[in-house]
Amino acid sequence: MSAHDVWKEGMTKNQEIAFMKKNVVPEMEPVFKSYNANRYEDFNCRTCHGPRFQEPKDFLPSLTFKDGKLTAFAEHPELAKFMAEQVVPHMATAMGLLPYDPKTNSGFGCHGCHEVKMQ
Ligand code: HEC
Ligand code: HEC
Repeated sequence: MSAHDVWKEGMTKNQEIAFMKKNVVPEMEPVFKSYNANRYEDFNCRTCHGPRFQEPKDFLPSLTFKDGKLTAFAEHPELAKFMAEQVVPHMATAMGLLPYDPKTNSGFGCHGCHEVKMQ
């Protein structure tokens, strides 16, 4: 794979696994560890996919969008800020995608890893 791999539909399972190993884990491990070295000491595939290797959207807690915003920013301010400022941009880079832009409602954002429920 090239230096600017882009995650896209239609890859084989082996290509997806290779992509995650080459691009996602090396980019995201230091991001999570810099936030909490103890909690993410064993950072690996399961941090996002869970022990039963589900899709992140099925494993991670869902987020709620209400009154024009995600409730997570009021309920878990520190973690939500870390997710928005560190996790989203680094993950977008790792995936070879643009980070979510509310102006165009496109790009890789919270919904790339979490299910977002509209209320
Ligand atoms: C930082 C979070 C994160 C880590 C760590 C991570 N993944 Fe993923 N992975 C994702 C996300 C998000 C998707 C969904 C991408 C999409 O389809 O838009 C995904 C998709 C996949 C897929 C394709 C969809 C599926 O679930 O079958 C495979 C296979 C996969 N990852 C394997 C791995 C492997 C193997 C590792 C460890 C080497 C790993 N991932 C580490 C976030 C992560
Ligand atoms: C690359 C994947 C990824 C993206 C993108 C992402 N998150 Fe997360 N999020 C995680 C992982 C992994 C956890 C679990 C962390 C843990 O258990 O320590 C998590 C946990 C959370 C939690 C804690 C939920 C709970 O009830 O314990 C909140 C809140 C959260 N994320 C909000 C957000 C918000 C808001 C965004 C967008 C700004 C976002 N996340 C984007 C991977 C992601």
